[in-house]
Amino acid sequence: MSETINALILGDVYGQPGFRAVYIGLKNLVKEKKADFVIVNGENAVDGFGINPQIAGQIFSVGTDVITTGNHVWQHKEIYPLLESDEPILRPANYPAGAPGKGYAVIEKRGVRIGVINLQGRLSMAPIDCPFQVSMNLIKKLKSKTDIIIVDFHAESSEEKEALALYLDGRVSLVVGTHTHVQTADERILDKGTGYLTDLGMCGPGLSVIGSNADISVRRFLTQLPLKIEVADTPAVISGIVATIDIKNGKTVKIERFQKESIV
Ligand SMILES: [Fe+2]
Repeated sequence: MSETINALILGDVYGQPGFRAVYIGLKNLVKEKKADFVIVNGENAVDGFGINPQIAGQIFSVGTDVITTGNHVWQHKEIYPLLESDEPILRPANYPAGAPGKGYAVIEKRGVRIGVINLQGRLSMAPIDCPFQVSMNLIKKLKSKTDIIIVDFHAESSEEKEALALYLDGRVSLVVGTHTHVQTADERILDKGTGYLTDLGMCGPGLSVIGSNADISVRRFLTQLPLKIEVADTPAVISGIVATIDIKNGKTVKIERFQKESIV
């Protein structure tokens, strides 16, 4: 029987409800899912926009191995030194040269090296560098270190996410989408062994409009006024996947999607 390793990957942590749910619930979730390592997208942890060093430190302190992010990572400048440091907190790798931080990391768990790549889509988003070409260059670089590579593709478009997953099928262990905050139900293992889910969904307030206060969001649509978005103060859900990866060849052998109500 081949040896495997279990990845627990959580979608965008949104505001205080999402942060609390992860901070209090992660240790039990790791036990329940028998996870060997944890990746969390911290993109919206501070009031729905970005992340700061204090919140990042707390997310790491409860067992997170790598924090990924996305388009809102630039919101709080205090995070830039941490992005520049050796800490495994990533920003999308395909931002142009000169943007602070790094877009990939290699961690080691149970004596196994795991590469994590963070990328961002370009459809309905900023026209940054090509995520397809950047991913291939990074995979070439990481392959000398490990066959286990996980990609968080922070993107709006399901089309772009599926295309990247099929482009990378057989080259990486997993491609998981983040950013839309709405979990999709299309988890599967592609032909050449790459596990895939279009969007993990978020860790954030359940009754909300993608995490924000529903009344304000509806009024924004009704009036077209630039009303300030507020984080919804409703019970949180935790969303993500646990995937089992074959250590010998980096292929995913099982992928399970979950969404559960937080105890806080
Ligand atoms: Fe985002």
